[in-house]
Amino acid sequence: MPSFLVLNGPNLNLLGTRQPDVYGTTTLSDIEADCVTYGTEKGISISCLQSNHEGELVDAIHAAKGTFSGIILNAGAYTHTSIALRDAISSVELPVIELHLSNIHAREEFRHISYIAAVAIGQICGFGAAGYRLAIDALLGHLK
Ligand code: DQA
Repeated sequence: MPSFLVLNGPNLNLLGTRQPDVYGTTTLSDIEADCVTYGTEKGISISCLQSNHEGELVDAIHAAKGTFSGIILNAGAYTHTSIALRDAISSVELPVIELHLSNIHAREEFRHISYIAAVAIGQICGFGAAGYRLAIDALLGHLK
Protein backbone atom coordinates (compact mmCIF):
# COMPACT_ATOMS: atom_id res chain seq x y z
CA MET A 1 0.00 0.00 0.00
CA PRO A 2 1.47 3.41 -0.91
CA SER A 3 1.95 5.82 1.96
CA PHE A 4 2.05 9.59 1.61
CA LEU A 5 3.21 12.29 4.00
CA VAL A 6 1.13 15.48 3.91
CA LEU A 7 3.51 18.09 5.25
CA ASN A 8 2.39 21.63 6.03
CA GLY A 9 4.66 24.49 6.97
CA PRO A 10 4.46 27.78 8.86
CA ASN A 11 1.17 29.46 9.72
CA LEU A 12 -0.91 26.72 8.12
CA ASN A 13 -1.97 25.65 11.63
CA LEU A 14 -4.04 28.86 11.56
CA LEU A 15 -6.11 27.85 8.53
CA GLY A 16 -9.78 28.56 9.10
CA THR A 17 -9.17 31.92 10.72
CA ARG A 18 -6.07 33.11 8.84
CA GLN A 19 -6.99 35.50 5.99
CA PRO A 20 -10.10 33.48 5.05
CA ASP A 21 -10.54 35.60 1.91
CA VAL A 22 -7.22 34.19 0.66
CA TYR A 23 -7.05 30.73 2.23
CA GLY A 24 -10.71 29.83 2.86
CA THR A 25 -12.42 28.78 6.07
CA THR A 26 -11.48 25.09 6.17
CA THR A 27 -9.24 24.30 9.13
CA LEU A 28 -6.04 22.28 8.86
CA SER A 29 -7.61 19.51 10.98
CA ASP A 30 -10.47 19.31 8.46
CA ILE A 31 -8.00 19.15 5.56
CA GLU A 32 -5.92 16.47 7.28
CA ALA A 33 -9.01 14.38 8.14
CA ASP A 34 -10.19 14.67 4.54
CA CYS A 35 -6.78 13.57 3.23
CA VAL A 36 -6.92 10.46 5.45
CA THR A 37 -10.49 9.69 4.32
CA TYR A 38 -9.65 10.21 0.66
CA GLY A 39 -6.49 8.14 1.04
CA THR A 40 -8.47 5.27 2.56
CA GLU A 41 -10.86 5.38 -0.43
CA LYS A 42 -7.86 5.19 -2.78
CA GLY A 43 -5.96 2.54 -0.82
CA ILE A 44 -3.26 4.93 0.39
CA SER A 45 -2.05 5.32 3.95
CA ILE A 46 -1.77 9.05 4.75
CA SER A 47 0.13 10.68 7.61
CA CYS A 48 -0.02 14.39 8.31
CA LEU A 49 2.42 16.74 9.98
CA GLN A 50 2.58 20.52 10.43
CA SER A 51 5.44 22.60 11.74
CA ASN A 52 6.22 26.29 11.95
CA HIS A 53 9.96 25.50 12.11
CA GLU A 54 12.14 25.11 9.04
CA GLY A 55 14.51 22.59 10.67
CA GLU A 56 11.60 20.38 11.77
CA LEU A 57 10.33 20.35 8.20
CA VAL A 58 13.84 19.37 7.01
CA ASP A 59 13.89 16.58 9.64
CA ALA A 60 10.44 15.37 8.52
CA ILE A 61 11.61 15.20 4.89
CA HIS A 62 14.72 13.22 5.93
CA ALA A 63 12.61 10.84 8.06
CA ALA A 64 10.22 10.28 5.16
CA LYS A 65 12.87 8.37 3.21
CA GLY A 66 12.17 4.67 3.56
CA THR A 67 8.84 5.34 5.32
CA PHE A 68 6.73 7.11 2.71
CA SER A 69 6.29 6.66 -1.04
CA GLY A 70 6.05 10.43 -1.56
CA ILE A 71 5.34 13.81 0.02
CA ILE A 72 2.69 16.46 -0.52
CA LEU A 73 4.30 19.66 0.69
CA ASN A 74 2.77 23.02 1.41
CA ALA A 75 5.89 24.78 2.64
CA GLY A 76 4.02 28.08 3.21
CA ALA A 77 6.36 31.07 3.14
CA TYR A 78 9.45 28.80 3.24
CA THR A 79 8.58 28.01 -0.39
CA HIS A 80 9.93 31.43 -1.30
CA THR A 81 13.02 31.42 0.92
CA SER A 82 14.28 27.97 1.83
CA ILE A 83 17.26 26.44 0.06
CA ALA A 84 17.43 24.04 3.04
CA LEU A 85 14.03 22.55 2.18
CA ARG A 86 14.99 22.31 -1.48
CA ASP A 87 18.24 20.52 -0.59
CA ALA A 88 16.37 18.15 1.76
CA ILE A 89 14.02 17.19 -1.08
CA SER A 90 16.95 16.63 -3.46
CA SER A 91 18.71 14.54 -0.80
CA VAL A 92 15.91 12.05 -0.13
CA GLU A 93 14.98 11.50 -3.78
CA LEU A 94 11.28 11.03 -2.96
CA PRO A 95 8.59 12.37 -5.30
CA VAL A 96 7.24 15.65 -3.91
CA ILE A 97 4.16 17.56 -5.01
CA GLU A 98 4.36 21.26 -4.20
CA LEU A 99 0.99 22.55 -3.06
CA HIS A 100 -0.49 25.95 -2.25
CA LEU A 101 -4.07 26.81 -1.42
CA SER A 102 -3.79 30.20 -3.11
CA ASN A 103 -2.60 30.92 -6.64
CA ILE A 104 0.87 32.18 -5.72
CA HIS A 105 1.42 33.41 -9.30
CA ALA A 106 -1.51 35.81 -9.03
CA ARG A 107 -0.24 37.35 -5.78
CA GLU A 108 2.75 39.50 -4.73
CA GLU A 109 5.90 39.09 -6.84
CA PHE A 110 7.90 37.55 -3.98
CA ARG A 111 5.43 34.64 -4.01
CA HIS A 112 6.11 33.93 -7.70
CA ILE A 113 9.52 32.51 -6.80
CA SER A 114 9.54 28.95 -5.50
CA TYR A 115 12.74 27.25 -4.36
CA ILE A 116 10.76 23.99 -4.25
CA ALA A 117 9.37 23.94 -7.80
CA ALA A 118 12.54 22.74 -9.55
CA VAL A 119 12.85 19.67 -7.30
CA ALA A 120 9.13 18.85 -7.15
CA ILE A 121 7.45 16.63 -9.72
CA GLY A 122 4.82 19.35 -10.11
CA GLN A 123 2.96 22.21 -8.47
CA ILE A 124 -0.73 22.51 -7.60
CA CYS A 125 -1.96 25.94 -6.54
CA GLY A 126 -5.08 28.05 -6.51
CA PHE A 127 -7.68 25.37 -5.74
CA GLY A 128 -7.96 25.97 -2.00
CA ALA A 129 -8.42 22.95 0.26
CA ALA A 130 -9.50 20.85 -2.76
CA GLY A 131 -5.88 21.00 -3.91
CA TYR A 132 -4.91 18.35 -1.35
CA ARG A 133 -7.15 15.74 -3.04
CA LEU A 134 -5.75 16.81 -6.41
CA ALA A 135 -2.24 16.34 -5.05
CA ILE A 136 -3.06 12.85 -3.72
CA ASP A 137 -4.37 11.89 -7.17
CA ALA A 138 -1.31 13.42 -8.87
CA LEU A 139 1.15 11.63 -6.60
CA LEU A 140 -0.70 8.32 -6.99
CA GLY A 141 -0.73 8.76 -10.78
CA HIS A 142 2.99 9.51 -10.75
CA LEU A 143 3.76 6.32 -8.81
CA LYS A 144 1.68 4.05 -11.08
C1 DQA B 1 0.72 29.33 0.76
C2 DQA B 1 1.21 30.48 -0.10
C3 DQA B 1 2.45 31.12 0.52
O1 DQA B 1 2.89 32.21 -0.27
C4 DQA B 1 2.15 31.62 1.91
O2 DQA B 1 3.31 32.14 2.51
C5 DQA B 1 1.51 30.60 2.78
C6 DQA B 1 0.47 29.74 2.20
C7 DQA B 1 -0.62 28.76 0.23
O3 DQA B 1 -0.98 27.66 0.63
O4 DQA B 1 -1.29 29.42 -0.57
O5 DQA B 1 1.77 30.52 3.97
O6 DQA B 1 1.67 28.28 0.71
